[in-house]
Amino acid sequence: MDMDLEKKIGLIRIANQARKWAHVPYSDYPVGAAVLTESGRIYDGVNIENAAYPVTICAERVAIFKAVSNGEKDLKAIAVVTKNGGMPCGSCRQVMAEFNLEMQVIVADENEKITAEKTVNDLLPGAFRSDSLV
Ligand code: THU
Repeated sequence: MDMDLEKKIGLIRIANQARKWAHVPYSDYPVGAAVLTESGRIYDGVNIENAAYPVTICAERVAIFKAVSNGEKDLKAIAVVTKNGGMPCGSCRQVMAEFNLEMQVIVADENEKITAEKTVNDLLPGAFRSDSLV
């Protein structure tokens, strides 16, 4: 899918603004994400940490799970914003791959400068998917 620049900037803005809701008492590394679905709706998400560290969930997965739990599985693009343009982790890539290998992943820093633009397939080639379960 070819997203126009205006839409991309809007998605990044929403992800960046969501960062203020991150629950990050341990890392102090707020992450914001925003998923654009086929319907045109946008679901944001933030990382939510826990004193039991592994229970922490990433911003990307919160945003995707919000979309899916609202009946929207057709995910077109996701923006991910951190202070330094950090890339999505492996677990989040796997969750993205469940829904759309062609989803656009737009990574930006706190100044909303795009630092990476990839498809999920670029980020997780050879993903394990439903068709692996034969
Ligand atoms: N984090 C995300 O939210 N997304 C990622 O893709 C990488 C890491 C969060 C988890 C944790 O709260 C903090 O960043 C530091 O790892």
